[in-house]
Amino acid sequence: NPYRPLLGKTALVTAGPTYEPIDPVRFLGNYSSGRQGYAIAESLRDAGADVTLVSGPVSMMPPENIRVIHIQTAQEMLDTCLKIIPVDIAVMAAAVADWRAKEVSDKKIKKTSDAKTPSFELTTNPDILATISQENSCRPRLVVGFAAETNDLLDNADAKRKRKNCDWIVVNDVNPDTKIMGGVENEVTILSSSGKQHFKRADKREIGRLLTKEIIKFFNH
Ligand code: C5P
Repeated sequence: NPYRPLLGKTALVTAGPTYEPIDPVRFLGNYSSGRQGYAIAESLRDAGADVTLVSGPVSMMPPENIRVIHIQTAQEMLDTCLKIIPVDIAVMAAAVADWRAKEVSDKKIKKTSDAKTPSFELTTNPDILATISQENSCRPRLVVGFAAETNDLLDNADAKRKRKNCDWIVVNDVNPDTKIMGGVENEVTILSSSGKQHFKRADKREIGRLLTKEIIKFFNH
């Protein structure tokens, strides 16, 4: 079907930040809006794919005709993704927190009169992209990761692609002056083992459509 070239394909997309609790009212998080991941999920849906979107806490409307699963933490995102695979396509656009508090207080941490500043020990979260990419029995045919970088963009991202064993890495520059993280536009380079392709600054929905076109080409070869 020329209008729905991904008909019959399944896709998993992750989007948004993760929130890692410190106590019942506080968390570690980041500025991800989920906008790029939601846009990719929508463009894959429009191309005919059966899409499941695993979303961290965002203020985006749940898109129509996409299964949306809401999670809070990286561990919940990983557990959910492992239940969803096997899929044909995995696009991991979430800004997963790298660390979480080693111990979560079950009571609100109080600011006491003796004014001792609390300190938190952190522990490392599982890497969802690497876990999915290194699945032997049910690795998606195409695994796409994202790399939010502030310096040495292409070198850092290519090292990441190799380390995490994903097929493509979509690199974006998240220096605050680019207004990309949390913003409505993106400018990306897609890196694969066969080279790189740059897409000029555009609305995140347009970037989603361009990435989907590349995914369609991948499956037509
Ligand atoms: O290492 P870094 O966080 O820069 O890698 C970014 C890519 O890895 C993104 O695709 C992100 O969704 C994924 N990631 C992940 N699990 C983590 C950290 C990052 O899936 N714990």
